Amino acid sequence: MDTRNTANSYGSIAKWLHWTIAIFFLGSYVSVYYRHWFTAEETPENWIALQLHLSIGITLAAFIALRILWRITNKTPDLEPGTRLEHLAAHVGHYALYAIMIIMPITGYIGTSVDTEYFFLFDIPKFETTKLYEVLVTQGMGISFEEFEQPIDFIHTNLFGEWIVWLLILAHVAAALYHHFFKKDKTLIRMTIGNS
Ligand code: HEM
Ligand code: HEM
Repeated sequence: MDTRNTANSYGSIAKWLHWTIAIFFLGSYVSVYYRHWFTAEETPENWIALQLHLSIGITLAAFIALRILWRITNKTPDLEPGTRLEHLAAHVGHYALYAIMIIMPITGYIGTSVDTEYFFLFDIPKFETTKLYEVLVTQGMGISFEEFEQPIDFIHTNLFGEWIVWLLILAHVAAALYHHFFKKDKTLIRMTIGNS
């Protein structure tokens, strides 16, 4: 299998990045909702679940950066035959997914009020304690962390986390299944077992 994309199919690197990121997205949801639904506040389990969410989110940021670089420097396979509307929907959907891949890790990191104990191996300082925060927020905007954090948290959790992200992923998965089972084209095959 080609490592690079071709006109007809995704290469192994794009596939690996796509599916790894998909699994980590699932992990970020499982960890944060496990925390909300199955742990009591101030317990060790509650803290562990939060730290897993932060660690998974930061790992995602690294994979997403690689993925965007790979996408920019590679050919994107042509879409399978379809109407102009279907192609437009596919492009808009893919760009929207890239947008959430950028927005979620950034808003997560800059709005968090605790350091990340990265998979309990080493600490990653929170944004609030960095030089960049001091220059941009304290000196540049002249506001406190509480004032800065509020709208950022709203975007990360209430707007995107609770709604936009999973609805978009649901629509994306539904589109993939529609292609596979109704249109019976190669859309899902070329992102999975298909060769270039
Ligand atoms: C693609 C990556 C990420 C996704 C999909 C994601 C998703 C979510 C979701 C779904 C929630 C819960 C929303 C709710 O309250 O219903 C949440 C909360 C949160 N996220 Fe993320 N997140 C990501 C990355 C990050 C990163 C990198 C950090 C910080 C380093 C972070 C920090 C937080 C914090 C502190 C909360 C609140 C925790 C809580 O309410 O228990 N997230 N995130
Ligand atoms: C079970 C879950 C998933 C399935 C079945 C799935 C399926 C697919 C398929 C079949 C394609 C190829 C589309 C085409 O060739 O036109 C694709 C592309 C894509 N997927 Fe997914 N996907 C899933 C999860 C995700 C997640 C969680 C994300 C990101 C948050 C994501 C982001 C993307 C993006 C951005 C593309 C376009 C790739 C490009 O051309 O650069 N997918 N997906």
